[in-house]
Amino acid sequence: MYSPYAASLLKAKDKHPVQFLIGGVIVPLVVTVGINGKVSSVKKYGTSEFDNSTGAYELVLSLVDNFDLAWRTMHVKTDVFCSGSLIHPDRAARQLNVGGWSLESTYGIRLYAADGSPGVNGTNDWEEELARTELELASQRGRWHPSALLMSNRSVLVVGGEVGSNGAPEPTLEILLTPTGGPTYKFLDYLNRTDPNNLYLFLHMLTSGRVFIGYCNEARIPDPVTLDTYQVLPNIPGSVTSFVAGRTYPMEATAVLFRQYPPYTDPVTVLICGGSNFGIAFDNCLSIQPEVEHPEWVIERMPSKRVITCIVTLPDRTFLIANGAQAGVAGFGLGSDSNYQALLYDPSQPVHQRISLLNTTIVALMYHSELTLLPDGRALVYGSDPQTPGYPEEMRIELYYLPYVTDGRTQPNFTVEENDWDHGGTYTAISVGLYEGTTDTMRVSMLTATSSTHGNNMGSRTIFPEFTCNGNTFTVTAPPNSYVSPLG
Ligand SMILES: *[C@@H]1O[C@H](CO)[C@@H](O)[C@H](O)[C@H]1NC(C)=O
Ligand SMILES: *[C@@H]1O[C@H](CO)[C@@H](O)[C@H](O)[C@H]1NC(C)=O
Ligand SMILES: *[C@@H]1O[C@H](CO)[C@@H](O)[C@H](O)[C@H]1NC(C)=O
Ligand SMILES: *[C@@H]1O[C@H](CO)[C@@H](O)[C@H](O)[C@H]1NC(C)=O
Ligand SMILES: *[C@@H]1O[C@H](CO)[C@@H](O)[C@H](O)[C@H]1NC(C)=O
Ligand SMILES: *[C@@H]1O[C@H](CO)[C@@H](O)[C@H](O)[C@H]1NC(C)=O
Repeated sequence: MYSPYAASLLKAKDKHPVQFLIGGVIVPLVVTVGINGKVSSVKKYGTSEFDNSTGAYELVLSLVDNFDLAWRTMHVKTDVFCSGSLIHPDRAARQLNVGGWSLESTYGIRLYAADGSPGVNGTNDWEEELARTELELASQRGRWHPSALLMSNRSVLVVGGEVGSNGAPEPTLEILLTPTGGPTYKFLDYLNRTDPNNLYLFLHMLTSGRVFIGYCNEARIPDPVTLDTYQVLPNIPGSVTSFVAGRTYPMEATAVLFRQYPPYTDPVTVLICGGSNFGIAFDNCLSIQPEVEHPEWVIERMPSKRVITCIVTLPDRTFLIANGAQAGVAGFGLGSDSNYQALLYDPSQPVHQRISLLNTTIVALMYHSELTLLPDGRALVYGSDPQTPGYPEEMRIELYYLPYVTDGRTQPNFTVEENDWDHGGTYTAISVGLYEGTTDTMRVSMLTATSSTHGNNMGSRTIFPEFTCNGNTFTVTAPPNSYVSPLG
């Protein structure tokens, strides 16, 4: 059942669109909204000025008025700094976290089956095997700053990173877990060549079942079966004055996918915003349709420079762009001049007219900050630990009311009884309650459940599925296959 527990909080008309939600307990490294409607976050060890945390917490949104009750303390066994994350499409929608800081933590695979619900305490915690055996739940290669993606064929792909913090490159990819007769990791010369500017590289599934990989200032598409390069895409341009530059950590930009809709024959578009030319931040976004015949990057200007970008995909097909620095790169002490100007990117508008100014965010949020969409359509603006003089470790959490709320609209409510969907199946929502409009003018969107780290949600996508209405019910036809939309 979809629970509009916070609909009553959506009275933004009289309030400023950006507000503080609650004080935090950690600077989160990975932020995930679980199927329990709660926000889990994990943090790094060691480099915080506050040595008072277990490293993992869950924010119960329905209890934000009571700081002590709102934060549930959880536990991780090894250092998640800096790992990759996703939500596994099993029935428990387990949160999966892979990689870490050094030694055994870089092989770590951690799982959390989010339980409880708004008003009902969860009891599960992060699980991780430490006594490693031959059939260990571990990655094949140790990785710091890897990216992880759920592929169309349900396997988890893990790519890149370094062997430990600022260590030698780990220019390989692997599928979890080690198969019998393994290991089966694969060396990638293009990652070896572009180290160390290809960390937290961009991964998205294209509708052919192939993976888009964006790294440093390059992009390519591996074959889905052999994982050898199938197609090299044009290099990612820098700016009109500089071609060589980067978009992945430490030049940290964010990559997202444009919406998809029936009949799902339009090519998928990848959008990348921000980045840096070795310290000079970019004021542009780039987009490409990787699977058209002659793919080309389209450059659009942003109103300000931004590196350490965060982007969150919104349910109305737009994107909120916020956080980050106007100079430098990602990493401790390496970014400066916080960018408070939030932007809205609307892919339905013509090129060069897609970006508009939104209200500024309140506090400086740079390295290790995230944006997270809440189930009620607001966004959490969260975290920052830049270790740049003048920019403290930031525990406060802001709430961003997007234009679809500040316009004066109220979130509709509905109930879906069947939560276990198959590709191509039809599913009915009952008791639809609309505060304005009618079901005839309604739109329905579905968003992938994802985890955000370093401003990126690997594998995030938005589907506007086909649906029909009848009175106060509507029936959605799920996306046809795992190429259009992987599970999750
Ligand atoms: C910011 O919010 C205020 C309302 O508090 C509004 O009047 C103003 O137009 C907003 N600015 C932008 C750029 O959206
Ligand atoms: C750790 O200390 C900081 C600073 O006093 C505080 O803001 C934060 O809530 C504390 N975290 C925990 C888990 O108690
Ligand atoms: C839920 O957990 C809080 C502590 O975080 C506790 O105070 C409360 O009694 C628990 N509620 C139930 C119903 O167990
Ligand atoms: C990886 O790159 C390093 C540094 O350029 C080079 O010395 C090494 O030979 C490369 N490894 C392979 C297997 O190509
Ligand atoms: C998915 O594809 C990868 C790459 O070919 C392969 O290694 C993996 O075994 C496949 N997974 C499944 C479940 O078929
Ligand atoms: C659902 O929305 C309708 C408005 O159409 C409202 O009257 C009703 O109270 C809402 N129900 C819940 C459970 O919020």
